[in-house]
Amino acid sequence: MTETLIRGRLLSFRRAPAHAADTQSFLYEDDGALLVANGIIQATGTYADIKAKAQADTIEIDHRPHLILPGLIDCHVHFPQMQVIASYAANLLEWLNTYTFPEECRFVETAHAERIATHFFDEFLRQGTTTAVAYCSVHKASADAFFAESLKRGTLMIGGKVMMDRNAPQGLLDTPQLGYDETRAVIKEWHGKGRNHVAITPRFAITSTPEQMAMTQTLAEEFPDLHIQTHLSENKEEIDFTCALYPDATDYTDIYARYRLLRKKALFGHAIHLSEREADAMADSGAVAVHCPTSNLFLGSGLFPLKAMKRRDKPVTVAVATDIGGGSSYSMFKTMDEAYKIQQLLGERLNPLESFYHMTLGNAVALDLSERIGTLEPGTDADIVVLNAAATPAMRLRMETISSLAEELFLLQTLGDDRAVVETYVAGKASKPKAEALRTEA
Ligand code: GUN
Ligand code: ZN
Repeated sequence: MTETLIRGRLLSFRRAPAHAADTQSFLYEDDGALLVANGIIQATGTYADIKAKAQADTIEIDHRPHLILPGLIDCHVHFPQMQVIASYAANLLEWLNTYTFPEECRFVETAHAERIATHFFDEFLRQGTTTAVAYCSVHKASADAFFAESLKRGTLMIGGKVMMDRNAPQGLLDTPQLGYDETRAVIKEWHGKGRNHVAITPRFAITSTPEQMAMTQTLAEEFPDLHIQTHLSENKEEIDFTCALYPDATDYTDIYARYRLLRKKALFGHAIHLSEREADAMADSGAVAVHCPTSNLFLGSGLFPLKAMKRRDKPVTVAVATDIGGGSSYSMFKTMDEAYKIQQLLGERLNPLESFYHMTLGNAVALDLSERIGTLEPGTDADIVVLNAAATPAMRLRMETISSLAEELFLLQTLGDDRAVVETYVAGKASKPKAEALRTEA
């Protein structure tokens, strides 16, 4: 068994920080180390203790003075939208119809899906993101390309073939039966293969007929342990259109509830404009609201009340995500920087410990995967990111005046991007694509 010892400043959350100075909520080792073998963290502690445990031939990698955290997690992205980012639209529905749906039509071509999959994994690993929850396109081949690339990279990824049977171009429509059959086929071929997880993925109520929603319910009942992902309450026009399509439902959330899609491990992208009743229904069911700040600002969708959701008598579980390509950055630092600004506009404070908790353990808990990822606990998967808060001249200058871990994290969040990611380990293997190795083909 080849062992690797990875040395640096360890930071791993134990639970959600209660306040900005909650030092009990995380483990921090100034001269720490991880012992990694077979893709698993075998031991975590001070360098001295770990060195004493290591075998004589253990490979040692010294990342001092950099921070070592669990790999970052992104709970909502669209794999076929890498070439949609930076599309100029007035709002969500115009953006979908003008740019996004036509772009997703291209994924009928397997070669295109495979090419974008290589770029997708390069980019996410470059940003320090080791797990993403992805929508593929309606085409089964897009899910095949996504999961095949994930298998190759050894990543823990969650993905789903999108089901959609109306209100989109013909090239993007399946049928209730085809959506069901192909989703089952994707589950059979990919779920549990390597570290892949398949999510049941009805795009949103606008693009699914009641017949397709009923098929989705059947899938959800047949596979009660799978994740479910969809969109909810992102934009006022979208909400009005959706409710008009399902006139019997009390509200947008009730549509999904009627098809038994509100449950643990069900991820609802955006969920910005929920009523108290809807937030209660989310909280009671254990469903997750996935906050996508750069997307919400870029598309002008609204200001997600993150702190208010967490403060409720019945708190709603919140995850965070880029929402590529409605989102405008692949970076989880930029994502939390924009989340911070949204809370500022709402008169709330989002402290840096909370932000880094959300990017790591918080998202792992929301996915019900904290036994495997989002932490540096021994026995978990060795998905690890190494961060340098002095990666650029501007960051280096600001670092001169920084005197606490929280300040350093806040700097990483505010000025950091992929340049601050020194290395990304996937199951113990150094996997950040090097600049010179980046694909340059047209
Ligand atoms: N709602 C339905 N589909 C999408 C999508 O692709 N992006 C966003 N932001 N919202 C959606
Ligand atoms: Zn989305």
